[in-house]
Amino acid sequence: MNRTDRDTTIINKIKAYSLSDDSYWSFKGRSDRQHCHALIQYPAMMVPQMQGELIDVIRSEDRDIKTVFDPFVGSGTTLGESMMRGLDFVGHDINPLAILACEVKSGPLFTKKLEEKATNLLFHIENNTNDTVAVNFPGIDKWFIPNVQLELSAIYLAIKSEPSKWARKIFWLALSNTVRATCNSRSSTYKLHIKSEEQIDKVGSPKEIFKKNILKSIENIKIQKQLLAEKGYLSRTKGVSKIKIRNVDAKLRKPSKIKYDLLISSPPYGDNATTVTYGQFSYLPLQWIDISDINESIQPKLLELQNSIDNSSLGGSLKEINEKYRALENKSPSLNKCVAEINSVNPDNTRKLISFTYDLNLAITNSVQELRKDAYMIWTLGNRRISNIEVPLDLIMRELLESLDCKFVYQLERDIPNKRMPNRNKIATTMGKETVLIMRR
Ligand SMILES: C[S@@+](CC[C@H](N)C(=O)[O-])C[C@H]1O[C@@H](n2cnc3c(N)ncnc32)[C@H](O)[C@@H]1O
Repeated sequence: MNRTDRDTTIINKIKAYSLSDDSYWSFKGRSDRQHCHALIQYPAMMVPQMQGELIDVIRSEDRDIKTVFDPFVGSGTTLGESMMRGLDFVGHDINPLAILACEVKSGPLFTKKLEEKATNLLFHIENNTNDTVAVNFPGIDKWFIPNVQLELSAIYLAIKSEPSKWARKIFWLALSNTVRATCNSRSSTYKLHIKSEEQIDKVGSPKEIFKKNILKSIENIKIQKQLLAEKGYLSRTKGVSKIKIRNVDAKLRKPSKIKYDLLISSPPYGDNATTVTYGQFSYLPLQWIDISDINESIQPKLLELQNSIDNSSLGGSLKEINEKYRALENKSPSLNKCVAEINSVNPDNTRKLISFTYDLNLAITNSVQELRKDAYMIWTLGNRRISNIEVPLDLIMRELLESLDCKFVYQLERDIPNKRMPNRNKIATTMGKETVLIMRR
C-alpha cells in the first residue's frame, strides 16, 4: 500500500469509531486512570485509553513501529500505553517530577519485595523519634506547618535509609503526592497560592496520607504487572519494552542514534506562567525528594527557584521578541493573524504568544528530526484564549509542521470533560475542547 492509501485507511478507521457515537473520542465515563496511570497526580494528563486506541489504529497500518517517542512526556501516559503494547519508548520532559513518575512506571515490578520493603519503611516511619527537620529551602515555614515538617522528615529519612534505588523511587513518588496533600498551598490551583488559616488548620497527617498512598501504589503496580503478564509483555519482573527517560529541554537539540517510529505527545498549550504552572506544581514535592535518585539526567539548577522550571519551559523567556517573530513570520499565517488580533487589544500579550510559539517551533523541529521517514505523529493540543481571542494552536502547529515538510493526515476534535485547566486567570480561560492532530513525516 502506498503512503497516501495508508493515510486514507487510518482516517477511515478513526472515523469509523465515531460513526455510531459522535462523542466517542470524548471518552466520557471511560477515562478513569488505572494501574500505572494512577501512580501520580500531574496537571493536564492525557486520557490513556484514547492514546492507546490511537496507537492501535496507527500500528494496524504501520507494522514497523518499534519505538515510540514523546518529547513532552509528563506523567507518562504514552509510556504506560506503549508498555502495554510491548513497544520501546523514549520520553523527555523538562520537569524532574515527570521524570520520576516515568521512571517508576517503567519498573522493575518487584511486587513481593516491594511489599516487604514498604512494611519495613512504614514501621521505621512510625517509630521515628527524630525531632529535627530533614530538609531546608527558602519558604519552608510558609508552605509547611511545623508538625507537617517533622512528619515529612520522618518519611524522608526512612526512604533515605532504604538500600534499593528502585524502591526509593516508588517511595519518593508516593511522598510527592503526600507533600502536595499536606502543604499550605491550595489544591484548587497548580500555582503556589497560600491556603486560608481555616484550610491550614485542617491539613492532615503526612504519615497517615503517605501510608494510604504507598498501599495504593503497591496495588496499582501489582495490577500493572498482572496486565503486562496477561498481554504477554512481562519478562520475569519487567516489561519487555526498552525504555529511556531523560530530563531534556525540547528546545535544545539532543540527537539520538536511532530514529523513532511514532511520535505521540501533548505539548503545553501556552507558556507555563499563564496556562499550567507545571514547575510551581512540582516545586514543593521536589524539595522533599533526593533528586540524585531519579536518574543521572536530572539538572539540579531546575530546582533552584520556585519559577526555575516554568522559566525554562516553552515560552518562559520574553527576550528578543522581535527576532523571534521574524524567525516565525513566514511559517504560520494563522499565527500572524492571531498576533495581529491580539495586538489590537493588548500588544503586551502578543509577546507571550510569540515567545511560546518560537520555542514550540524549536521543539517540534528537533522532534521531527528524530523520526524516521514516514513516521506518524499524534499531537494532542488545546486552543487557549489570550485577551479573549482564541489561539488556534491546532492550525499553528499544523502550519509549523508543514513548513518542516510534514504531511497533514487528519484532525479530530474532542470534548474534555474533566481536564483541570486554570479558570481564574487574566490570560487563559477554561478550555472545554482539545484537538488531536495526526501528521506524517
Ligand atoms: C500537557 S503536559 C504533558 C502531559 C502528559 N501527556 C501526561 O499525560 O501526563 C506538557 C509537558 O511538557 C513539559 N514541557 C514544557 N516545556 C518543556 C520543554 N521545554 N522541554 C521538555 N518538556 C517541556 C511540561 O513539563 C509538561 O510535563
